[in-house]
Amino acid sequence: MNKLKTYFDYASATPVDERVLEVMTPYFSQYFYNPSSLSLPAKQVAKDVADARARVAHWFGSRPTEVVFTAGGTEADNLAISGVMRQFPDSNLIVSAIEHEAVLRPAAQYDHRIVSVNKDGLVDLAKFEKLIDGKTVLISIMYANNEVGTIQPIRQIAKILQKVRTERSKSGNNLPIYLHTDACQAANYLDLHTSRLGVDMMTINAGKIYGPKQCGALYVKAGTRLQPQVLGGGQEKGLRSGTESVANIIGFAEALDLVQSSRSDETARLYELQSFFLSQINQKLPNALVNGTMKYRLPNNIHITLPGQDNERLLMELDEQGIMCAAGSACSASSAEPSHVLRAIGLNETGARSSLRFTMGRYTGKEGITLAVKALSEIIPG
Ligand SMILES: Cc1ncc(COP(=O)(O)O)c(C=O)c1O
Repeated sequence: MNKLKTYFDYASATPVDERVLEVMTPYFSQYFYNPSSLSLPAKQVAKDVADARARVAHWFGSRPTEVVFTAGGTEADNLAISGVMRQFPDSNLIVSAIEHEAVLRPAAQYDHRIVSVNKDGLVDLAKFEKLIDGKTVLISIMYANNEVGTIQPIRQIAKILQKVRTERSKSGNNLPIYLHTDACQAANYLDLHTSRLGVDMMTINAGKIYGPKQCGALYVKAGTRLQPQVLGGGQEKGLRSGTESVANIIGFAEALDLVQSSRSDETARLYELQSFFLSQINQKLPNALVNGTMKYRLPNNIHITLPGQDNERLLMELDEQGIMCAAGSACSASSAEPSHVLRAIGLNETGARSSLRFTMGRYTGKEGITLAVKALSEIIPG
C-alpha cells in the first residue's frame, strides 16, 4: 500500500481492507443464493446476513432488528428524514448548517429550520434549543463533519430532547421528537453505542470504514415511526425492499468489527500524526489558517485556508506529484458553489476557495505528511 503514502482523501473513500474482501468473495459465487429463497443453501445465506446484522447491532448497542441495511449513507439519511417527515406531514425538522447534502437535500423538501454553527464548527446549543417548537418532530445533526472533522455534542443534544419530551408529555402534546445523527465520518474513531449517545436513528456507511461502497445501515430505535421509501418485496422489515446486497453486508459487518475493535489505538496514532501535520504546516506554511476547532475534532482531519491561493489549482498541482487531498467534499466536487460548511463557519467565498482538506487513515505516516507539506510549500510562491 505504498502508493497510499501520499493519499489524504480518506474522508471521501477508504481502500477495502483485504480481510473484508476475503470474507465477501464467496458470496459472489459459491454462496450467491437469494436469502429469501427456501432452499437449504439460501437459508444458510439468510443466517449469514442475520449474523452480520447482529455484529453491526453489537457496535450500536442495539437489537439486530433495529438495524436496517441500505445502499449507503445517502439512502440511510434519506430514509431517516423522509421516513419520519412523511409520517408527520404537519410537523417540522431541524438540521445543522453543516450537514452533508444527503441530509440537507431531503430536509429541504419539508418545513425545516437550520441551526447555525459557531466559528469553531460546532452547533450553537442555545440557538438550537430556541428553534424547537411544539411541531418539531425530527432533529438531524451529524456526529462528525465530513469537511472540517468537528465532532458535534450529540449527547448534550439528546439531553435537551429528553427535556422537551418530558415537557410535551406534561402538556399533553403527543408528538414524538426524534434525534437522527449521520455518523458516516465518525464510525472509524468514535463510540457508536446508540443508547449512550441518546439517538433514535443513526446512519453509517461501509465505504468510509474500509468496506464496500453502496452499503450502509440506518439504526432505527424500536418504536420509531418510519415510512419506507423503497417499496417492494418487504425485505429489511419492510423498511428497505430489494434483494439484500449479501456480499456487501457481510463485508460491512467485518469492516465495522475491524475498525471499532482497533479504534482506540488507531485514534491515538492519528492524533499524534495530526499534531505532527500541524507542526509541519506551522513551520513551512506560516500563512496557513486552520479551520474549525482542534479540540472537538476527528483525529484524521486537517483543514486549512491558504490566503490568496486557488484551491483547485493547488489540488491539481499536488495531484501531479501523487499527493491526493480535497478542496470541498468529494460528493459535491462537481458543484461550482464554494463549500456551504466553510461559509457556515464564517469564511467568505474567497477564503472557502482557498481551502484544502487533508484526511488521513490507516496507511498515513510521517513520511507522507512531510512530503505533502513540502510539496505545498514549494508550489506556493514564498
Ligand atoms: C457525512 C456523510 N454523510 C453521508 C455521506 C454519503 O454517503 P454515501 O456516499 O455512502 O451515500 C457521506 C459521504 O461522503 C458523508 O461523508
